[in-house]
Amino acid sequence: MATTETGTPHALDPLNEGEIATAATVIKEQSGLDETGWFETITLQEPRTKTHGQDGRFAYVCCYEPSSNRTLAGIVDLTGRKLLDWQHVPGVQARIVPDEFARGDEIAKADPDFLAALAKRGITDASKVLVESWAGGNFGIEGEEGKRLAYGHCWLANDAGDNPYARPIANLHPVIDLRKGKILRIDDFGVVPLPPDQGPLNLNASETRTDIKPLEITQPDGPSFDVDGYHVTWQNWDLHVGFDLREGLVLHDIGYRDKDRLRSIMHRASMAEMVVPYGDPTGGNYRRNAFDTGEYGIGQALDSLMLGCDCVGHIHYFDVCSHDWHGNPTIIKNAVCMHEEDFGTLWKFSVPKTGQTTVTRSRRLVISSVATIGNYVYGFFWYFYQDGTIGIEVKATGIPLPTGIAPGQAPQHGALVSPGIDAHVHQHVFSFRFEMAVDGDKNSVTEVDFEPLPQGSDNPHGNAIRIVETPLTSEKQAQRELDLARARYWKVCNPGSLNALGKPVAYKLVPGVNALPFNHPDSSVGRRASFMYKHFWATQYAPQERFPAGWFPNQHSGGDGLPKWTEADRSLDSEDIVVWYTMNYHHLPRPEDWPVQPVVYAAFHWMPSGFFDRNPALDVPPNVAKT
Ligand code: CO
Repeated sequence: MATTETGTPHALDPLNEGEIATAATVIKEQSGLDETGWFETITLQEPRTKTHGQDGRFAYVCCYEPSSNRTLAGIVDLTGRKLLDWQHVPGVQARIVPDEFARGDEIAKADPDFLAALAKRGITDASKVLVESWAGGNFGIEGEEGKRLAYGHCWLANDAGDNPYARPIANLHPVIDLRKGKILRIDDFGVVPLPPDQGPLNLNASETRTDIKPLEITQPDGPSFDVDGYHVTWQNWDLHVGFDLREGLVLHDIGYRDKDRLRSIMHRASMAEMVVPYGDPTGGNYRRNAFDTGEYGIGQALDSLMLGCDCVGHIHYFDVCSHDWHGNPTIIKNAVCMHEEDFGTLWKFSVPKTGQTTVTRSRRLVISSVATIGNYVYGFFWYFYQDGTIGIEVKATGIPLPTGIAPGQAPQHGALVSPGIDAHVHQHVFSFRFEMAVDGDKNSVTEVDFEPLPQGSDNPHGNAIRIVETPLTSEKQAQRELDLARARYWKVCNPGSLNALGKPVAYKLVPGVNALPFNHPDSSVGRRASFMYKHFWATQYAPQERFPAGWFPNQHSGGDGLPKWTEADRSLDSEDIVVWYTMNYHHLPRPEDWPVQPVVYAAFHWMPSGFFDRNPALDVPPNVAKT
């Protein structure tokens, strides 16, 4: 684990091994949890005060107790080894953690009726079958209420054994009571022939390309960043790398050094929730939707990244510490990767008469983590540029989640990606959360639209564009959608800090790839993920308002999170602002996405917009041409 030069954890450092073990011990000794109880979450309880002035270190802990079907949560004082607060949270279900997810597979395979349903499909070797214990959702189905539920989706591995998702076992869904460790019922909507085996995912060496020559990235003088523990400085940027067991990579205290002033931009930035609703209503497919953060946990699913594979160049890795369901700490080595990348031209200008040309090359600092959750792999990439821009990009790869389809049938809500394999249309909807601090805590929000003026005496040539900047002064006003016809974006400004032109300093949120949801707002998933109906939300900061679908989305009936909190309609006028941006990647898989999908990218940016008085990267020295 990284520690600072003094060896003492900074208030925002992720919990280390010893701290996780201490938290688990304190819970076991002081909470009254019985021996069936297990640990959903042990993660840093971040300091509530933004000055981080609190003494000591604290852990947020959430447990599930099967014997009583209770979810309990509280705070452990790690310094004093004391349980400060421990509450039963009524009517909710803890996340499905990796150990429990794996347990679902065992429960299904121990059930004779499930084995008989496999045999009906010609499958006699259950060891080649994968049963994924998907969070059950909340569909009001008789017999499911009050249970700790998983809805199984099943696959048969390929013969080569390198792709557990190779052959979907369509229409077979064991419904698992995770608390009792048994099958509640089996949803069998009829046998569909297994698709043919498409062969191994990993080709033989004789089948792979031979014309790839080495491409080396060398930094003979080392990288341009400085690291102390989890604190990073690079090219005027100053930030703290953090980790949350549920959200994964978190960035704290993002600021930019402007001459001799370190100017704050954000207190905290993270991907706070995501949901992947699938668009097929038939059989058990309507239950395919995944809140990967709130139902399973991104932080717990981070990969240990590999130099030369996941990352090239001069890499600085940060380790983080997760835990198993017994509360034993498990280190994720190389969970966060940081490096610099050449990024083409930063700025260029040529004087036509003299031929004098100035070109400076851009580089960016890349801080990233990759989470493998079942079939899908999500990379979360944060880019910091020399001109003050922040980029956020999701890279999605892995195996699309298909079902089987009988020969001769045409998919109604998906696409044929391989013989007998129907991949449903779906959306990957991410909610990014930003605790804004543009030159301090008192920020305001505006929406910027562009409108054509009517043709007339003021606009005789029909080219006039009017710029309409509308303050969004309360939470109900600040629930907005993109508008392509108006080239809409949003700004967070500080009315108390003016730039050289006399305007409030600001950062603007520049959308990229996006879409709107197709789920009916009154549908089960629509109610539970109502954050996805707006691309932009702004709220007044409140420490408990962390997750846009609420703290406990697993099996929740909906309405929690952003829609509930914003009922208060708090002021956003020179307040402590949190921005929530919804990015929706709409995905109909292609044959080229099978058997494994090349990375698809979805991104957006925060750009300074009058935050600086002029191009802040004018001081990046021009590059000299090599001849
Ligand atoms: Co997809």
